[in-house]
Amino acid sequence: MKRIKISEVLKRTTFGEVITVMGWVRTKRVSKNVGFIALNDGSTINNLQVVIEVTPEIDELLSKVHTGASLIIIGKTVESVGSGQQVELLCSNIQLLGQANPDEYPLQPKRHSLEFLREIAHLRFRTNTFSAVFRIRHAMTFAIHKFFNDKGFCNIHTPIITGSDAEGAGEMFQVTTLDPLNLPKTEEGKIDYTQDFFGKVTNLTVSGQLEGELAAMALSEIYTFGPTFRAENSNTARHLAEFWMIEPEMAFYDINDNMDLAEEMLQYLVKYALENCREDLEFLSKRREEEQKQKPQNERDDMSLIERLEFVVNNKFERLTYTEAIDILKNSNANKKGQFAYPVNNWGTDLQSEHERYLVEKHFKKPVILTNYPKEIKAFYMKQNEDGTTVRAMDVLFPQIGEIIGGSQREEDYNKLLSRIQELHIPEKEMWWYLETRKFGTVPHSGYGLGFERLMLFITGMSNIRDVIPFPRTPKNAEF
Ligand code: 4AD
Ligand code: MG
Repeated sequence: MKRIKISEVLKRTTFGEVITVMGWVRTKRVSKNVGFIALNDGSTINNLQVVIEVTPEIDELLSKVHTGASLIIIGKTVESVGSGQQVELLCSNIQLLGQANPDEYPLQPKRHSLEFLREIAHLRFRTNTFSAVFRIRHAMTFAIHKFFNDKGFCNIHTPIITGSDAEGAGEMFQVTTLDPLNLPKTEEGKIDYTQDFFGKVTNLTVSGQLEGELAAMALSEIYTFGPTFRAENSNTARHLAEFWMIEPEMAFYDINDNMDLAEEMLQYLVKYALENCREDLEFLSKRREEEQKQKPQNERDDMSLIERLEFVVNNKFERLTYTEAIDILKNSNANKKGQFAYPVNNWGTDLQSEHERYLVEKHFKKPVILTNYPKEIKAFYMKQNEDGTTVRAMDVLFPQIGEIIGGSQREEDYNKLLSRIQELHIPEKEMWWYLETRKFGTVPHSGYGLGFERLMLFITGMSNIRDVIPFPRTPKNAEF
């Protein structure tokens, strides 16, 4: 008989049909004549209650059924008498597919710490928390493609292996097939990369932007959605070595058009989650409230997860310049009382996440878009302002997260771009293809990068980025 998903079964309002379900046992209770199994197949956070009449034969089988075991159940849908669900399944046939020895199976029907669950990431999908997170992650992936598709953007697959350092930060993972114990050398004693697989030095990409720009110079509006890799040694709750990024790039957009798109996209995605992932969000919202109770009063959130999501959908983001933000931070009580780990004294310093969060959570109490950063702290490709000191950058800052989006209007002037590349000693020869877009039919254009896991942190209310990607890659950790 065809398998029916539990999410479908639980929606039923008519009863009496005999159906087949398959899933994993969450809990089992057996009394003298009747057994109850809560079955979950991942299609919803809710379990299906299976009611089994206990005969001696069934009793023997049930003794082998424990949390984590997999079952096929055939049974009749009946209206539930207990509270909670309105439908349950009266079992007529039960088949044990795979046992889970309770002495070895690490998941028990109780709350496990997130740290512990990270160590068993191969099994953590089977918890309510992680199945909710990964159903939402899927929904957000779909919503991102839908948002851009509905606007006529073209999805471009940019390369994972690249010869260029898009962000110029030099935090790249090298890709090579050379034998580290037997490296070929040039006459000057350097490594001879002409003998490497690609005949040159290659790395895992830190961003699809540069290639995305090439496509935008013909298709007008494109976006990438792919994995990116950064070998920065920052072991924080917001950094991964492998993360996913969404990078739209639009011809004929200036920085204001860019900000409008970023704001519209973020509100669309949050609204999509509220409308399509309600049960999972309610579960995570409750979970977060309980987590908050463990914290000292002054560190607790003033809004629940769902309230915060609704707040972002319903309020315009605050827009201001870097210079205005520095003034606010410099004159803030937090700065004067020495509450920042990095005191704000001078124009020109990069903002730390504590400063970004101060602006968002304490000062404006809503998402913020900062523009016009000092050129020294931003990438070479950003459009230079007339003042000669700032560039048309934009960072979107979110509560709990800090920077969720980084982007800019791009420098479309060939000579200005070239002189910035030279100033920063970026190998000009390797950038010939990027420069040529400014030589042939150049146009004003803009784009940004949304860190997908940062978005997921915000949507789910989880506090560690390791808990919103199935298998996190962080310094000294590439298990699974
Ligand atoms: O600000 P970033 O470095 O910008 C770029 O890479 C541009 N090429 C984007 C563009 O204009 N097309 O990174 C963009 C976003 C950040 O705002 C952050 O959300 C996320 O990517 N991000 C990370 N997320 C997780 N772990 C890391 N190590 C991250 N580094 C950046
Ligand atoms: Mg950035």
